[in-house]
Amino acid sequence: KNTADNTMIHYWKYFAKGIGYTLLITAISVVVGVILGTLLALMRLGKNKIIKVIAVSYIEFVRGTPLMIQVMFVYFGIGMIVNVPALLAGIIAVSLNSGAYIAEVIRSGIGSIDDGQMEAARSLGLSQKETYKSVIIPQALKNIWPALGNEFITLIKESSIVSIIGVTDLIYQMKMVQSATYKGIAPIFVAMVLYFVLTFSLSKLLNYFEGKMKHV
Ligand code: ARG
Repeated sequence: KNTADNTMIHYWKYFAKGIGYTLLITAISVVVGVILGTLLALMRLGKNKIIKVIAVSYIEFVRGTPLMIQVMFVYFGIGMIVNVPALLAGIIAVSLNSGAYIAEVIRSGIGSIDDGQMEAARSLGLSQKETYKSVIIPQALKNIWPALGNEFITLIKESSIVSIIGVTDLIYQMKMVQSATYKGIAPIFVAMVLYFVLTFSLSKLLNYFEGKMKHV
């Protein structure tokens, strides 16, 4: 038999497709997660008790259950009502999960700003809304921005769980290559290295932008 056919490079298209899906799920989920997370953080920081309880419950529940079971719950749960593609279910689940984590990132980003900032701005005559807009939020963003970068990196790794519902991400493709080549370990090693290349280069890229931000 032709052993050359079994080299990993021969299957680069599988891995490339997997990376594409992994990055797609991650990118969409971070964006949706930021929107949802901002909403949840505002709900949690607001004055309305009922809204606060809803936000806190959501955040705690999502962070207190495995992403794996959330992915299955969304896929089979929505699947009972309408037939939803696994990719869409995966994106929804990862987004809903990320929103809870990002809510805490935003909340602690805002919380890290010293109370004196609010007091000083208010005593200068700014309204609470104005203070948030032009004093608190701009400073909080300096803490939030790097943490959002970390969330992106986390999701590159954690999104791998969507392979259990059949989304053709990097893990799923790795398994395809395993079956096609009858090789157990080589595809695992390739996928592992690819994940590392993704997260490592992304973290270098984020560090670069962070360095630039310091001079703004
Ligand atoms: N492995 C974790 C879990 O099962 C995933 C947490 C997702 N983390 C995140 N920052 N979105 O709960």
